[in-house]
Amino acid sequence: MSSISFKSRVKGIAEIYRAVVANKPAYLPEDYPDLTNKTAIVTGANTGIGWHVSKLLYEKNCHVITVVRTESKGLEASETIKKEIASSKGSITVVGGCDFLDLTTVKDAGDKIKAALGDKPLNVVIHNAGLMAPKNQGTSKQGYEAMFSVNVLGPQLLQHFIDPLFLKKDDTLKRIVWVSSGAHFSGFPECGIHWENPTFEGIPLNERPDNITLYGQSKAANILQAKGWSTTHKVIVENIGCVSVSCFPGILKTELMREWGTSLNYLASCLFKDGSYGAYTELYAALYPGLSIKDTGAYIFPFGEIHDPREDLRIGLTDGTDLKLWDLVQEKISPFF
Ligand SMILES: NC(=O)c1ccc[n+]([C@@H]2O[C@H](COP(=O)([O-])OP(=O)(O)OC[C@H]3O[C@@H](n4cnc5c(N)ncnc54)[C@H](OP(=O)(O)O)[C@@H]3O)[C@@H](O)[C@H]2O)c1
Repeated sequence: MSSISFKSRVKGIAEIYRAVVANKPAYLPEDYPDLTNKTAIVTGANTGIGWHVSKLLYEKNCHVITVVRTESKGLEASETIKKEIASSKGSITVVGGCDFLDLTTVKDAGDKIKAALGDKPLNVVIHNAGLMAPKNQGTSKQGYEAMFSVNVLGPQLLQHFIDPLFLKKDDTLKRIVWVSSGAHFSGFPECGIHWENPTFEGIPLNERPDNITLYGQSKAANILQAKGWSTTHKVIVENIGCVSVSCFPGILKTELMREWGTSLNYLASCLFKDGSYGAYTELYAALYPGLSIKDTGAYIFPFGEIHDPREDLRIGLTDGTDLKLWDLVQEKISPFF
């Protein structure tokens, strides 16, 4: 199995360093519009960046639908936000039980989202939930490599159920954010993806590549998904003026490294900014008025600027690779429609 070149690894480390010392946030809460009568979906909102994103949206009077795997954690997180932002005229609805390690749970989440949305327009979708495993530890219930299941298959399957609610000309604000990472640099040589078998079905754990390569693959896929979704729905996407982008939120202290041991977590707590900075990047992608349909497929760098991804992926966004990935994932998830 080929792995990426030394040169690419060095470029990846340089990218991570640039993110640690990134520019100041380009677009801050005081710049956000009032979001009364707007609705946003945020996945993985019980903790980390997703929690900050939900709080900032709610503060602007948005109706926020948080999609989480453990309902009690989601409810607790939403109660904390409601207590902190008592003046909001928005709402938070928690959709629990959506576990991207078991794709059979996603349809039910789609039904609950539909019920929570009612007749309201759906303005923003932020695919934020993610897993960065410290070692090659997992396989989903369906036998897929864990990070590909959580970071790629789950979000695209959820989007399948969201599409009929979202693809409507019912409001001027229409955005989708696919949360990626600078770690996409460590994915496989061809646009980050191990094309023959990206889910590593049937391959024992000890024969799989290292976890950093697998996480990199999943985050490269997110960059392709942002464009692939738009390419698939090109006519309606242009008609409703929807912008679908990926973003690298930043290198931040959240729970993402919860299983990485105390020393690494201590180092992260000393060096990295907190999760609110990741929210500034994600909300730049979701709300910044300067982004338009011409920016579809763009990769947003911390803490709010358009940036080129790894060179082969930059090209992959223009030569049909986005659709190749999208279709490959559709094939894997279609049994769960
Ligand atoms: N923090 C960083 O430095 C950094 C850098 C680059 C990119 N990112 C990306 O930013 C996003 C948010 O990460 P974060 O830093 O906020 O991490 P976090 O604090 O660990 O939050 C991750 C969220 O994803 C959810 N999640 C994990 N596994 C799931 C599953 N099987 N099904 C459904 N939801 C699941 C978690 O739910 P549970 O609490 O139930 O596990 C949690 O709500 C991720 O996509 C990550 O890859 C983060």
